[in-house]
Amino acid sequence: MAEHGNGESGAVVTAGEGESGTYAIDSPGLPPHRPRLSDVDEKAAKRSERQVATLFIISIIGTIVFMVGYFAIGRTSEEFGEYFDHMQWLRIQNTLLGVGSAFAMLGIGLGVVHWAKTLMPDHEIVEPRKPLRAEAERAEAAQMMGEIVEETQIKRRPLLRNTLIAAALLAPLPAVVMFRDLDRAYGEEFSPERMRHTIWDEGVRLVRDPTGTPIRASDLTVGSAMHVIPENLREISSHGERLSEKAKAVVLLMRMNPEDFEHTSPGREDWTYQGIIACSKVCTHVGCPVALYERHTHHLLCPCHQSTFDAAQEFKVVFGPAGRPLPQLPITVDDEGFLVARSDFTEPVGPTYWERGNA
Ligand code: FES
Repeated sequence: MAEHGNGESGAVVTAGEGESGTYAIDSPGLPPHRPRLSDVDEKAAKRSERQVATLFIISIIGTIVFMVGYFAIGRTSEEFGEYFDHMQWLRIQNTLLGVGSAFAMLGIGLGVVHWAKTLMPDHEIVEPRKPLRAEAERAEAAQMMGEIVEETQIKRRPLLRNTLIAAALLAPLPAVVMFRDLDRAYGEEFSPERMRHTIWDEGVRLVRDPTGTPIRASDLTVGSAMHVIPENLREISSHGERLSEKAKAVVLLMRMNPEDFEHTSPGREDWTYQGIIACSKVCTHVGCPVALYERHTHHLLCPCHQSTFDAAQEFKVVFGPAGRPLPQLPITVDDEGFLVARSDFTEPVGPTYWERGNA
């Protein structure tokens, strides 16, 4: 028998070779144990078992929903794209991916928590600190592992064991299959030449995403900003190609007071319209979407590594790791008063690392 100080309360508790062999339960330093309903009523324990198994099954269903969203919806979108709106398919797919992975993780997490709270022993225990003795410690650890397995009741509750194994095996699959996306998108060959151009062209209207509504200058008030895409994106029939062209062509449009422009290079005098200015949304550092516009400073911030670009100075980098300004899209209005591009970007959009060795 040995006496040990209880650090927090300062009370002295007794521990030794008691009923558990290595630690004491219900020692004087701990509040008395109050049994739960599932400790004294086998029916309540069975009910808890079924609830935990149901949560594991929800996790399994979540994983299956994710897989269907990932593999089946992508194919369906390609095969029936001419009858259905691709953006609708994309929304359905994203919903299934999000809901599926959420239920896969939540189901297994809540199941384990519910299991621990209702079925596993909830005695508080005090274990004495002893000098380390390798052989004895190993034997004790092995014995302790055996006791833990026993306490989880996993051996005598096959429903729990089987649903847990199925859920635990399936839950990592969503993360694993997404590694597939690190391969070339939709089997397209990487081409530096394709990266030099976007589908913006003279007269292509700037439209809202995803509605495709064209934009008039009067739709933008001074200080406002919006994300726009080229109208001719809809003409691309291949779903994969449309997504990759959209990723390159997405643009941020904002309106400033014309007198706030601090610098305009020769040849760029007509690239803006009544204070409306447009730039690529793809950060020139490593390609995150630049998303935050601060109307008073005219600064655009990339949330990934805080590169900051000044819209008043042709999107020059004023802070952060980006190596060059955001490319500016020359714009004007057409005969009907809608904002249009004057041309494609005059320089490649996005990070410049892919250009190395290809110049
Ligand atoms: S990707 Fe924009 S700062 Fe790094």
